[in-house]
Amino acid sequence: MLTKGALATLFAAQASAFPWVLDTIGQPRDYFGHQEKRQTQAGSAATCPNNPNHKGAVPISAKYPYCGAKNGLPGYQVCVNNLVPAKGDTAHYYTPPGPNDIRGPCPGINTAANHNFLSHDGITTFEELVDMQQNVYGVGYDLAVLLATLGVGLDGDPISGKLSIGCDASSRTTSPGLPGPELGLDGHNKFEGDTSLTRNDYFLDLDNGDNFSFNLTKYKRMSDVCKGSFDRKCMSDYRYERYQESLNWNGNFYFGPKSLLLFGAASFLYELFPSLGELGKPDQTTMDYFFKKEQLPPNWYSRVDPYTIPDVAIEIFAQYSAHPVPFGGNTGKPNSFVGIGDFGSAFSGNMFKGDAAGVACFLYQAATENVPSSLGGGSTVPLQSLEFGASKLNPLFGNSSSKLGSFGCPLNFNSA
Ligand code: HEM
Ligand SMILES: *[C@@H]1O[C@H](CO)[C@@H](O)[C@H](O)[C@H]1NC(C)=O
Ligand SMILES: *[C@@H]1O[C@H](CO)[C@@H](O)[C@H](O)[C@H]1NC(C)=O
Ligand SMILES: *[C@@H]1O[C@H](CO)[C@@H](O)[C@H](O)[C@H]1NC(C)=O
Repeated sequence: MLTKGALATLFAAQASAFPWVLDTIGQPRDYFGHQEKRQTQAGSAATCPNNPNHKGAVPISAKYPYCGAKNGLPGYQVCVNNLVPAKGDTAHYYTPPGPNDIRGPCPGINTAANHNFLSHDGITTFEELVDMQQNVYGVGYDLAVLLATLGVGLDGDPISGKLSIGCDASSRTTSPGLPGPELGLDGHNKFEGDTSLTRNDYFLDLDNGDNFSFNLTKYKRMSDVCKGSFDRKCMSDYRYERYQESLNWNGNFYFGPKSLLLFGAASFLYELFPSLGELGKPDQTTMDYFFKKEQLPPNWYSRVDPYTIPDVAIEIFAQYSAHPVPFGGNTGKPNSFVGIGDFGSAFSGNMFKGDAAGVACFLYQAATENVPSSLGGGSTVPLQSLEFGASKLNPLFGNSSSKLGSFGCPLNFNSA
């Protein structure tokens, strides 16, 4: 579909409207003073809520089996007639978070924690995350493992498998011998990034608002753009608008290759949030439940057929290629954009093969490799986390009899 050449042409066409774009094509990137970006205030370790009464997620049971996922293993994969929460399963009814409970930048996760599919205090685990995504949302096992691996690997503890779903709770997540701190899902430019749908950018000259909680103004703007249907086209258009906003307002705007994950998250609005997933309607009422109340809508059913890595790869590529934008960032002032190099490099090159396989391999890389400095990689992910990622993902990406394995992504740490 989109070759490197075609992409350069697109950028050149854009350049008349956005003169900065032209300068970024094929630019070797060498400036970009990357200081460690870290939550310093509301979300800091010192002020992060701490609930002394940690209770794990409420697991599924014979009476309330949901999609059959437990202990981090694959569930049914096709999940028919799955009302969530099930009638009578009061343990999974909505329970609002208290002042000692951590919540963070992900509405899918916050909602699941509010229904006790994750630990209600916000200190969760790899296995809870893999089970929850399947049981609540009908996410396929492969994608559930990938997202949990990214979360725990980039922002949590690869030995204990623990993760804070928001602020830095290192004192409760970090295993002995690991470098830390483990920033939790609020940690910037690991999983979380600029140009979120409803969250402020991390470094924001614009105002003194925080950068991880829900911003109602942004949500309203998204709702205006989407006009009652939060579908693929709307997500693509609105994400493009957010990119321009960040570029024009945020002197420290950074949009690295991992920002592609945000297109994946945007697809969840129309693939996972509606009742029955992609068969349902991604309407305003549904979004209000997930974004404003962080509660499952009444009479809500999970998606039936699993939402897999190949599926999300198609959505990421479709949203991105409707408005392709260069990777890079501002250099201290709004509109001081510098691109991060050639699109042919091994890391982002996968993306620009222009097919789902390329995006899938890119997602694999995001969990198992440090973004190279030539692509603006800022913070270094510890080796243990990368090995953790490979140990979880190699069995999936290396299985030649599965669709994912047939993509032939080159595997890391594959000697064992
Ligand atoms: C282990 C699994 C998951 C992890 C670790 C995770 C983590 C995250 C993080 C860190 C963000 C913030 C990205 C940013 O905007 O900077 C995010 C955003 C988001 N996530 Fe998740 N997520 C997971 C699963 C899910 C699921 C299953 C859903 C939906 C059912 C979901 C829905 C969303 C949405 C809609 C956003 C965008 C929010 C916004 O931009 O305002 N996530 N997620
Ligand atoms: C929310 O986002 C809007 C639009 O980007 C911005 O103008 C506003 O300052 C933000 N509000 C807060 C409280 O951060
Ligand atoms: C992120 O939010 C915090 C808390 O509201 C704010 O003080 C800080 O300025 C923002 N981030 C940075 C590093 O600018
Ligand atoms: C490989 O994939 C096939 C087809 O999806 C599946 O039946 C099989 O169980 C997988 N093998 C392993 C070892 O995971």
